Amino acid sequence: MSGIIAYCRAGFENDCAAEWQEKSAALGVYGYCQATAQQGYVVFRCQVEEADHLAKKLALTDLVFTRQFIVILAELDQLPVADRVSQVQVALLDEDLLAAFDTVKPAGELRVEVADTNSGKELSKFAKKFTVPLRRGLRQIEWLTERESSRRPSLHVFILGTDHLVLGYSYSFNQSPWPMGILRLRMPNDAPSRSTLKLDEAFQVFIPAGEREQRVTSGMNAVDLGASPGGWTYQLVRRGMMVQAVDNGPMDEALMESGQVRHFREDGFKFKPKKRNITWLVCDMVEKPDRVAMLMCEWLVEEYCKEAIFNLKLPMKKRYQTVSESLALIKETLAEYGHGRYRVSAKQLYHDREEVTVHIYREPS
Ligand SMILES: C[S@@+](CC[C@H](N)C(=O)[O-])C[C@H]1O[C@@H](n2cnc3c(N)ncnc32)[C@H](O)[C@@H]1O
Repeated sequence: MSGIIAYCRAGFENDCAAEWQEKSAALGVYGYCQATAQQGYVVFRCQVEEADHLAKKLALTDLVFTRQFIVILAELDQLPVADRVSQVQVALLDEDLLAAFDTVKPAGELRVEVADTNSGKELSKFAKKFTVPLRRGLRQIEWLTERESSRRPSLHVFILGTDHLVLGYSYSFNQSPWPMGILRLRMPNDAPSRSTLKLDEAFQVFIPAGEREQRVTSGMNAVDLGASPGGWTYQLVRRGMMVQAVDNGPMDEALMESGQVRHFREDGFKFKPKKRNITWLVCDMVEKPDRVAMLMCEWLVEEYCKEAIFNLKLPMKKRYQTVSESLALIKETLAEYGHGRYRVSAKQLYHDREEVTVHIYREPS
């Protein structure tokens, strides 16, 4: 059966599915989703050519609840334990499959992946062991380039059981660079809170590597709204910025001793910077999404800051709808009152839980 598999955080399958339904229809593809709660992925069923069209045209960066997605080549189950590799070879040499996917072969790299769930974790040891013989087997049948190539599509093997897997592919120009679409980060020993990883991840996901040195760098001024105890401020300080940390709660003492932080015990919704010299506004206040969205728009429209990263905390139900409405509100407000063109991106990051992270950037004129 053809279609797409979209990887997501377990528990967010319905939101991921709702987003696929809407965004694929906007590109003229009318498929249907199969989503089971807590399985960590969604299957979107559509025709083979439609799936390939979406792999090229539906930008992963435009999908909030999808970490990575792959076009299904084949699904194999009841694989014989003794020789799974040759069964994969047989499937990939099938004439119909080759005719439908002739431009995908040979792939430039192999990614053997599992769902980000407890049962996926149990399979990851097997996935690792399977990778080496499988890679060899794929090279034998010329489904994989001899040397890794980032210009060719990636071949994904999504392991659902020790005898059950899905073969798929993604295009190098529309994929996450990380296995399973997950950027794993080490928790720094001296960071004041685990949420520090959210901002670290956000900088790496939203700011292209080649621009990071220029856009997230030493000497910049930043404001952190809802800063206590200082996990996000820690990331700004680590990058050499001077930070105005706004929160009634206490800030980590070691962070204050850096000399790079001024603590304002004020309401983040009322705080305004004294000078228009702020590059980064970050905000992690627990508040209604639309209220945070409007505050961020105000900072950008008034040119108090150049770029903003913030969280939208999600309600229990209709989470995709809530996010869509907040993003629409942001785009409309900036189009009406802003100066210039803004890029608005949103993602449920690996380190996010009941929230998504948004980045807004005014493009240089
Ligand atoms: C999730 S915590 C922030 C954690 C922080 N980003 C970190 O990494 O350590 C939310 C913070 O927002 C603060 N907060 C909520 N409403 C606020 C407001 N109106 N003004 C200032 N701070 C607020 C709370 O006091 C709380 O410390």
